[in-house]
Amino acid sequence: MNSPLTVAIVGATGAVGQEFLSLFESRRFPVGDLRLLASARSAGRKASFMGTEYTIGEATPDAFEGVDVAFFSAGATRSRDLVPAALAAGALVVDNSSAFRMRDDVPLVVPEINLDAVPKGGKLVAVPNCSAILLLMAIQPLRSLGTVERLIVSTYQSASGGGAAVMEELRESTRAFLEGREYAPKAVQHPYAFNLFSHNTTVGPHGANEEETKVVEESRKILGMPELKVNVTCVRVPVLRAHSESVTVEFAGPAPSEEAARAALAAFPGVTVVDDRDANRFPMPAEASGQGDVLVGRIRQDASNPNGLSLFLAGDQLLKGAALNAVQIAEALIERDGI
Ligand SMILES: NC(=O)c1ccc[n+]([C@@H]2O[C@H](COP(=O)([O-])OP(=O)(O)OC[C@H]3O[C@@H](n4cnc5c(N)ncnc54)[C@H](OP(=O)(O)O)[C@@H]3O)[C@@H](O)[C@H]2O)c1
Repeated sequence: MNSPLTVAIVGATGAVGQEFLSLFESRRFPVGDLRLLASARSAGRKASFMGTEYTIGEATPDAFEGVDVAFFSAGATRSRDLVPAALAAGALVVDNSSAFRMRDDVPLVVPEINLDAVPKGGKLVAVPNCSAILLLMAIQPLRSLGTVERLIVSTYQSASGGGAAVMEELRESTRAFLEGREYAPKAVQHPYAFNLFSHNTTVGPHGANEEETKVVEESRKILGMPELKVNVTCVRVPVLRAHSESVTVEFAGPAPSEEAARAALAAFPGVTVVDDRDANRFPMPAEASGQGDVLVGRIRQDASNPNGLSLFLAGDQLLKGAALNAVQIAEALIERDGI
């Protein structure tokens, strides 16, 4: 790839931030200088990358001088506050937060689907919601087989989707449960060990929570299908890492055959079909964890509707749902536009 770049990670100490470092190494991302940025709480701490020790800096507007690529992964408020400074410094900004996703002038990108939404030389790209990315990785290949009209989705979302604090809560509350100790929830509202609950985002006036609204709106934007019917129920489950989703796809006419769907999914980059009926082996979060591909299986006709096809998927939302998707965007733009 290109010559070494000055790369910043805002939110470098977080669940997603940590994944960037592993990906830079495994994908040989052209890191020359590295700026690891987080809150004042972490400033001064050390982190190592490929044998070199770095000091975490506080993410402030003046931290972006000379930065070529800035990955933001520290929440929407920090992105709103700091992205303008990174852009003013000339950086390519790839933002994992929801801050800019629905702005008309900001491309919302899954590289396998709509990299061309980024104009040549575009400097700000938003990474979609993790559940939306995983869902659309399974939907896009099926679009070659018919007109998709409606999606009915239920998610089974892991603790890591809520960040490092929610992962810790799952570990701690499980330990307490098994030892018979009381545990007062801190990072989420409800008991997490051996339980599940509706996604821990605010429920709006029409009954959809923020996560569900993001999946609906972002899916329409990424696919360029503003009329797409989408019904989503998002649930947090006691899984440490990797989200799963049960999906029914309704087509304008008769659904494609299972064989055609399996073949289209298997041919799509970033998807692995796991669909062994004899062994009752289908996508599982434990198997999806740590890998970039979205696992798709349980591919079957919707017995209640000749136009329907059902499937189940599992994907590592810290990777394809966040850090990997962001790194892929940067790699593709470095290749396409140069920096
Ligand atoms: N987790 C996922 O699966 C996922 C998927 C897609 C998108 N995202 C998005 O990615 C972002 C980070 O998520 P995460 O799961 O990695 O969360 P996390 O584990 O809670 O990490 C949050 C990061 O933000 C930093 N931060 C917090 N307040 C800050 C401030 N005032 N200034 C600078 N940095 C600050 C934290 O630094 P300190 O350690 O110093 O507090 C930490 O590095 C969020 O926008 C989230 O919506 C997450």
